[in-house]
Amino acid sequence: MSNNTYSKLIEPSIKDARKRRKEEIKFSIFDINPKYLNFGVGKKYHLKTYGCQGNLSDSEKMAGILEALGFIATDIETEADFVLFNTCAIRENAEERVFGELGRFQKFLKQKPDMIIGICGCMPQEEKTVRRLKKSFPYVKVVFGTHNISSLPEYVYDAFNGQKVVEVLSIEGNIVENIPVKRDHLAKAWVDIMYGCDEFCTYCIVPYTRGKERSRKPESIIEEVEALAKAGYIEVTLLGQNVNAYGKDFTDREYGFANLLEDLNKTSIKRIRYTTSHPRDLDLATIKAMALGGNIMPNLHLPVQSGNNEVLKRMNRKYTKEEYMEKINLLKEYVPGISITTDIIVAFPGETEEQFQDTVELVKEVEFEGAFTFIYSPREGTPAANYENLLTEEQKHDRLNRLNDVVNAHSLKGQMRFENQVVEVLVEGPSKNNPELLCGYSEHNKLVNFTPKTAKVGDLVKVKIIKAYSWHLLGEEL
Ligand code: SAH
Ligand code: SF4
Ligand code: F3S
Repeated sequence: MSNNTYSKLIEPSIKDARKRRKEEIKFSIFDINPKYLNFGVGKKYHLKTYGCQGNLSDSEKMAGILEALGFIATDIETEADFVLFNTCAIRENAEERVFGELGRFQKFLKQKPDMIIGICGCMPQEEKTVRRLKKSFPYVKVVFGTHNISSLPEYVYDAFNGQKVVEVLSIEGNIVENIPVKRDHLAKAWVDIMYGCDEFCTYCIVPYTRGKERSRKPESIIEEVEALAKAGYIEVTLLGQNVNAYGKDFTDREYGFANLLEDLNKTSIKRIRYTTSHPRDLDLATIKAMALGGNIMPNLHLPVQSGNNEVLKRMNRKYTKEEYMEKINLLKEYVPGISITTDIIVAFPGETEEQFQDTVELVKEVEFEGAFTFIYSPREGTPAANYENLLTEEQKHDRLNRLNDVVNAHSLKGQMRFENQVVEVLVEGPSKNNPELLCGYSEHNKLVNFTPKTAKVGDLVKVKIIKAYSWHLLGEEL
């Protein structure tokens, strides 16, 4: 068969991806067609993941599917028969890195011409990515997006049989349950609670790459969490682009994110975290559910993006700085000691120096214990990509640096409060820089390196903190 026959050729459409109809969400149960069973036996795969936790979770599912077909994982790139890039489209530099990697893999094809290279995730959901792949990367044989992970068996089968597959669906999305999952961690697990995003922040590509907001049924989530607890998992992180919109799509019941937290609070899992929250949709019921404590951990990632109301408006964030502060104050009141982190974009088109200063002031006022800070990156197809941006590269970097200085000062302050305190750590493994120490995360999601006594990976142990540093706490097991 020729290398140029396509078994599938469906290209993305940003216009279709933007649509939101009021159709019922289709639920289905994953199943592998017997035709593909054992197809991967004797073959190795190498999966590279970029982007958010949503992608990490998807990659664990794709690894689960590949292993169900008989493939085994390899860390050695040149050994792989199938290499798959699960990609992120959030900013230009994330994308360029992937194109660079695809170029690097081209030379492996000279030694191993049978190697199949594939790309999936958010980048192929963009029209410009697929255009560029076809033009400059013809050796990429498998291209699919975020909506059809469950078709992976068919895609690899076709590709190994000499065909090319391009199938990127620009649909609103459905929900497929029971996909096998090969989890990366022994004690921590991702649990998707919903998919997609309907917020349409003007800078963001996610609503186009991930489809509309759609929620898994609470029964499925609770069952998964209980099964994880029984299997020895200690911590789950509930995932969604905007978890506070959980349940808004249910037509058969009134059930929201706060209800889910309350129900999961009664399960036997020891730790629950969740991400990401949208400040507008974070409600008092959720804050009260967090106040239940127990297995609900006292940390929250609440992306603010900007501290200026005019910029927030042009970002379509639908809250003001004052409304954001109100929620922060409620969180601090109901969950004493809560650790709050955020995301911030600088140099959004039209952002003035004064508006930037409002963001700096907000960071000081909230005392965020950490922040991911980004320079605005235009995304084709989003409204803000057409806004005029007169800032020079130098000005953009200068704002980022000045913001980071303020953020870092507060992070350190947030770390210092744990000196001489005892925290509980979920042990992840040896510390990166000192193999004699173990590391893990505390209730407040602080990285802790500590001298162990009897602790081993997957244990929850008490650690006395001796010293706080900017990026970790140092302690010893009690
Ligand atoms: N759903 C989450 C995560 C979105 S992506 C949320 O709403 O917070 C993670 C972060 O990337 C965002 O919070 C935002 O700060 C940043 N981001 C998104 N689009 C961006 C863009 N075009 N340029 C720069 N940063 C961006
Ligand atoms: Fe993007 Fe906004 Fe949705 Fe977050 S809430 S994924 S920033 S559109
Ligand atoms: Fe990136 Fe897609 Fe996540 S664009 S941030 S991988 S939803």
